[in-house]
Amino acid sequence: IPKDAEKMIEAHELLKKFYHHLLVNTKEGQEALDYLLNRGFTRETIDTFEIGYALDSWDFISKFLVKRGFSADLMEEAGLLVKKNNSDDYFDRFRNRIMFPITDHHGMTIAFSGRVLGDEKPKYLNSPETKIFNKSKILYNFHRARVHIRKNQQAVLFEGFADVISSSRSGVENAIATMGTSLTEEQAKILRRNVSEIVICYDSDSAGIEATNRAAKILQSVGCHINVAMIQDGLDPDDYIKKYGSEKFKNDVIGASVPLMTFKMSYYRRGKNLQNEGERFQYIENILGEVSQLKSAVEKEIYLKQLSKEFDLSMDVLKEQLNQKKPKQE
Ligand code: GTP
Ligand code: MN
Ligand code: MN
Ligand code: MN
Ligand code: MN
Repeated sequence: IPKDAEKMIEAHELLKKFYHHLLVNTKEGQEALDYLLNRGFTRETIDTFEIGYALDSWDFISKFLVKRGFSADLMEEAGLLVKKNNSDDYFDRFRNRIMFPITDHHGMTIAFSGRVLGDEKPKYLNSPETKIFNKSKILYNFHRARVHIRKNQQAVLFEGFADVISSSRSGVENAIATMGTSLTEEQAKILRRNVSEIVICYDSDSAGIEATNRAAKILQSVGCHINVAMIQDGLDPDDYIKKYGSEKFKNDVIGASVPLMTFKMSYYRRGKNLQNEGERFQYIENILGEVSQLKSAVEKEIYLKQLSKEFDLSMDVLKEQLNQKKPKQE
């Protein structure tokens, strides 16, 4: 590791501990701590995930780091400080935020995501892309989840930090997330090297449903087998756990996850009247499009049979129609 990168990681490790200390031991951190406890975070989860608090100050961290011998220039490169326009002054990037450390796959802190305590924007502020933080390769909590992923031979993919943390506390510890961005092929490949079964458990709003389709496509392309855990009433996993508890989350959400094709079927059905010939034809085309992308001949056969039964079509006709489709390349 180059010396610069080493220094950057050292600063992140130091700040992670300091932010955590501010959150749990100081008067200044009390409001943030209360916010977290009110949301249902426990002291144990706050410790496990090493959550912290960045003071409401423009220069506390700048001074803190420089006093400890870190060059302000390098700390700017690390994303911790921001350079003021047209001057040699720096200010703290993260101010008055709840700090979630982001680690690499060995557990070294390489970035932060900071959440506001209220409704200001942006809700989450992430470290920028740096020499040590390649967003498209990092999965939140992968370092902790890996052993559980291997043991369960399954990973559960979430949208948000809070979802991963609540899920882990509920006993679903094979939990990971991207950081507000779409899943990348690199992240998918990293997962695939560890596991083939993925459960996607995104928010149940329309953004989450669209993101599920996108993530599924990428995971499929690297050879993962996908199930989708759907929450019904517009909640996200963290809200759901808070409202209904861990057991219901484990049994009725994760335990009741369905194969991707079942999810797709209800997705394409939504808002369609299958009694209407045109809409029915559209639906069958949509499903055939999905079937054509499956790698396994057995799976193809299973879903064709299902279509054949439901719409009273012969297998020959369905296969003929399927053969006219080439797997979509995008
Ligand atoms: P909470 O309100 O704390 O429960 O957050 P959430 O995880 O439910 O947020 P949401 O569903 O809106 O977004 C999912 C994920 O997207 C978050 O966990 C963040 O990683 C990311 N995200 C949300 N808002 C922002 C933002 O304003 N900026 C950035 N960079 N990322 C965001
Ligand atoms: Mn602690
Ligand atoms: Mn959302
Ligand atoms: Mn959410
Ligand atoms: Mn949430």
